Amino acid sequence: MKTNLGVIRRYQEYLPIENKFIVDLCEGSTPLLETCRLRDALGIKARVYLKFEGMNPTGSFKDRGMCYALSKAWEAGAKAVICASTGNTSAAASAYAARCGIKSVVLIPEGKIAFGKLSQAIQYGAQIIQIKGNFDQALELVRQIGEKSNVAIVNSINPHRLMGQMTAAFEVVDVLGDAPTYHFLPVGNAGNITAYWKGYTKYHQEKKSSRLPKMMGFQAAGSAPIVQGQIIEHPETVATAIRIGNPASWKGAEEARDVSGGVIDSVTDEEILEAYDLVARTEGYFCEPASAASIAGLKKWSAKNDLSEKDSIVCTLTGHGLKDPNIAVDRAPTPVTCEPNFDDVMKLISGE
Ligand code: F0G
Repeated sequence: MKTNLGVIRRYQEYLPIENKFIVDLCEGSTPLLETCRLRDALGIKARVYLKFEGMNPTGSFKDRGMCYALSKAWEAGAKAVICASTGNTSAAASAYAARCGIKSVVLIPEGKIAFGKLSQAIQYGAQIIQIKGNFDQALELVRQIGEKSNVAIVNSINPHRLMGQMTAAFEVVDVLGDAPTYHFLPVGNAGNITAYWKGYTKYHQEKKSSRLPKMMGFQAAGSAPIVQGQIIEHPETVATAIRIGNPASWKGAEEARDVSGGVIDSVTDEEILEAYDLVARTEGYFCEPASAASIAGLKKWSAKNDLSEKDSIVCTLTGHGLKDPNIAVDRAPTPVTCEPNFDDVMKLISGE
């Protein structure tokens, strides 16, 4: 029963740790769905797959790295862990900390995290500290606290996080039988693009794949420091998960782009929301707005560049749409209300 194991047990040779310290929640083994209606809507000839990371236990890709970071922290005897977060990292950190009985402290930008993510940190029992500032300022504080105290940092500056996140690339290759020719994903703090690239490179070196994908990262236009080549002091975007102006893995993302021959570009909030609607309505996968940056990026890039039938594309949908339901509900008209009788309901259905 290999598939019912978490990523550490499935990829133990890459994530070494004694069995008794493994902290897992059965993360990973997420769907890789081949699209049909989405691909047609975008007019793409290549095969397009969605890696739906919203199906992880806390609803985002963060679980892959957090299980290893918490396992290593537990092994090292840590009594508390800390992270800065736009929401998903805090949900994952507090869940895995709960699983092994370690205290978790999460620093979040006040008023700028999605409701579902806040509810998770509360329910998993984290100590939540809202910062009157943005993610970048919260991460700077976490770095200082990590230096001056014995609280373990579980942001992606902790190398165990990116080691765990490599498993997403392993799963793609294990399922497709080779690496795709392109991999599209959103970029915020830039850890995930760095981790995927490391994972693909490792498998390629071990001859588990015949090629390396071009890494295609997309930032939100109001939070696009890598695209603009400068720190953004006041990042803004509807996609709060990637509202980041000074990514910790900036260099890693550039290396992934340059060595793979890929691209890091930006997409506007309008493009993100259009893709957010499109993927839900063509394929039935509800992702959070930041995740849709990968689809928006594919739409933007494929409009100007040729993809052939021989190409294969994976887009990572990094987090579940239920994390941030307000974005879906607030943009839609209020559903109609009707008396509970047959004729009235039929009238509405037939549009008379
Ligand atoms: N998508 C989602 C849903 C995210 O939560 C994040 C990052 C990203 C994409 C970007 O990934 O940072 O590795 O480039 N969320 C972090 C957090 C910053 O605190 O939850 P990245």
